[in-house]
Amino acid sequence: MIRVIRIDQQHPLYTQEVALRVRVLLKPIGIDMDDLDKLFPGSEAACEHIVAVVNHPSGERVIGCVCLLPDYPTKGTAKLMQMVVDPQRQREGIARRLVAELERRAFGELALKSLWCSARVGAIEFYESMGWSKMEDEYQEAGIPHYKMVFEPPSDHRTPEAAEASSSS
Ligand SMILES: CC(C)(COP(=O)(O)OP(=O)(O)OC[C@H]1O[C@@H](n2cnc3c(N)ncnc32)[C@H](O)[C@@H]1OP(=O)(O)O)[C@@H](O)C(=O)NCCC(=O)NCCS
Repeated sequence: MIRVIRIDQQHPLYTQEVALRVRVLLKPIGIDMDDLDKLFPGSEAACEHIVAVVNHPSGERVIGCVCLLPDYPTKGTAKLMQMVVDPQRQREGIARRLVAELERRAFGELALKSLWCSARVGAIEFYESMGWSKMEDEYQEAGIPHYKMVFEPPSDHRTPEAAEASSSS
């Protein structure tokens, strides 16, 4: 069974989250966590970390993750960062579940109005499948092509918290 949970940098699974990001996201483009910190200073500590976890005989394993940087660059919006799923577990709907939890958190408890990300070209179809829109022209980030993508919930979008508040009023 896959569990999707929010952790912080002190959580025992954080080391596995970082190892997955380095292996699948950063190392293939020739950067490490220090380089990431230079590209986005302070973002690691400011981010919320959402991970997909499975049980394994040797203990829990992180097989996917995504980060949420709230109120960045301005209040009310947030950046989705570091979206990655273990290559052996891709196309099982794990990223979809991670982004659904990120959106629930962003538009629920954090009461944000919009989300954005800097998407690698290979991930655009994934974000589009989640209702995100591609903006502007292609640009280079960390030496590879990216597009800015945005997501705003439809006006009838209801978080579980909002639906509960409305049904009980
Ligand atoms: C992009 C990524 C996170 C998607 O993770 P995933 O768990 O495989 O995605 P899901 O299984 O939740 O896919 C949901 C939907 O997105 C779309 N999608 C996902 N990967 C796709 C791909 N490679 N090509 C086209 N569509 C894709 C499909 O519509 C898919 O639904 P379907 O499988 O029912 O057709 C994963 O491929 C990954 O980690 N890539 C390497 C790291 C990376 O590029 N991260 C993004 C940085 S911006």
